[in-house]
Amino acid sequence: MGNKEQFGSSFAAIAALAGSAIGLGSIWRFPYMVGENGGAAYIIIYIAASLLLCVPIFFAEFIIGRRSGANCLGAMRKLAPGSAWKWLGVLCIITPTIILSYYAVVGGWSVAYLLRSFRLGFPDSFGAFSASRLEPLIAFLAYMALSCLIVAGGIKKGIAAFNKVSIPLLFVLVVCLAAYSVSLEGGAPGIDYLFRPDWSKVNTRTVVNALGQGFYSLSLGMGIIVTYASYISKKDNMVTAGLGTAGFTLFFAILAGLAIMPAVFAAGIEPASGPGLVFDSLPFIFKTMSSSYPVLGPVVAVLFFLTVSIAALTSSISLIEVPVAWLIEENGFRRGRAVLLVFLVTGIAGSACVLDSAVFETLDLICCNVLLPIGGLLCVLFVGWKMKREDVRDEFTNGGSLKWNTKAFGAVRFLLCYLAPLAIAAVFLSNFI
Ligand code: PHE
Repeated sequence: MGNKEQFGSSFAAIAALAGSAIGLGSIWRFPYMVGENGGAAYIIIYIAASLLLCVPIFFAEFIIGRRSGANCLGAMRKLAPGSAWKWLGVLCIITPTIILSYYAVVGGWSVAYLLRSFRLGFPDSFGAFSASRLEPLIAFLAYMALSCLIVAGGIKKGIAAFNKVSIPLLFVLVVCLAAYSVSLEGGAPGIDYLFRPDWSKVNTRTVVNALGQGFYSLSLGMGIIVTYASYISKKDNMVTAGLGTAGFTLFFAILAGLAIMPAVFAAGIEPASGPGLVFDSLPFIFKTMSSSYPVLGPVVAVLFFLTVSIAALTSSISLIEVPVAWLIEENGFRRGRAVLLVFLVTGIAGSACVLDSAVFETLDLICCNVLLPIGGLLCVLFVGWKMKREDVRDEFTNGGSLKWNTKAFGAVRFLLCYLAPLAIAAVFLSNFI
């Protein structure tokens, strides 16, 4: 592992991790979940769930990746040679490949809408757009090609370089959008919707929602953190990386809420989530806006879809890197060829998702409700119960040199061994109730 390429700096590492975390989930799900689940009350529960559970799961994956300095399968080969744990490695390569197939379809929609934003030539409805097939298909393939090109550039010159520019840019964009949206007349109820604490809406379901959201948002359970951590310096502090990633992602998601909800309320639309929000409600708002402000409408639309596209891109490249790292390290592929193979495989699977929305929905359902929780659970069990306590401590504390990490180790290990497995199992089972 001595000569393995690395991100190059702590900032590059956090930018890459935050790039994976900040994505569609932060834009089209978080604001709505907050509004519907009790506003500030939900945010507090979300922060508690992140700190107590999601960040420790992040540590578990980080420990596997940086300790082994290898891709998901290589990590299992090195840390648990000859054991059935290799299937965890296999799972962590399959899951992101499947997710990529449909995540990139959404990335394609964002790029198509970005191009249409310049003239506000949005389709009549999102349903009509996705049913048209040809444009979503071309957009998907173009988006995949772009994501693959970035990954083909390598760890430092491709992934790290892109994230180091994109993450600060995303914050600038979302701050501009939020400032504009908050200043709209009639936007105040949107702020109220987002933040007014309503503890009466809080119940066990809320906690399960917050956990699931944090899990997906930090890109856990699919080998991304394992893979990225293998490119992170042994000197970096994983607690800073974990808290930094979670903190930036939450901050971005709140800003996204401020960018979206006041505008939604000012336009008198019902708040929504998912594709309906991003590809129906907001284009409607941009169009309406342009009747009074012909220049501002397209400008805001372009800024918005640029934000969505970049947020999706930084996540997609983290998905691509997982199978690519495996192909390079375990199968002797050159980076360019590995990327090409991933492009071909996910290009076919993604095209099926474009042409048949049932494929899209099935893959999403299987990944989010089954594969991700299983992957996360196994990672936590691996670090908590299979790896030697001394090795875990050594990795978590950078060989005992980090004072605060050494103090926190006992608590983190407790969370990993007991609370995290139980919580993931609970979230998993709640999908079937
Ligand atoms: N964390 C991303 C988001 O919130 C989702 C994601 C999941 C990204 C899996 C990459 C991989 O949108």
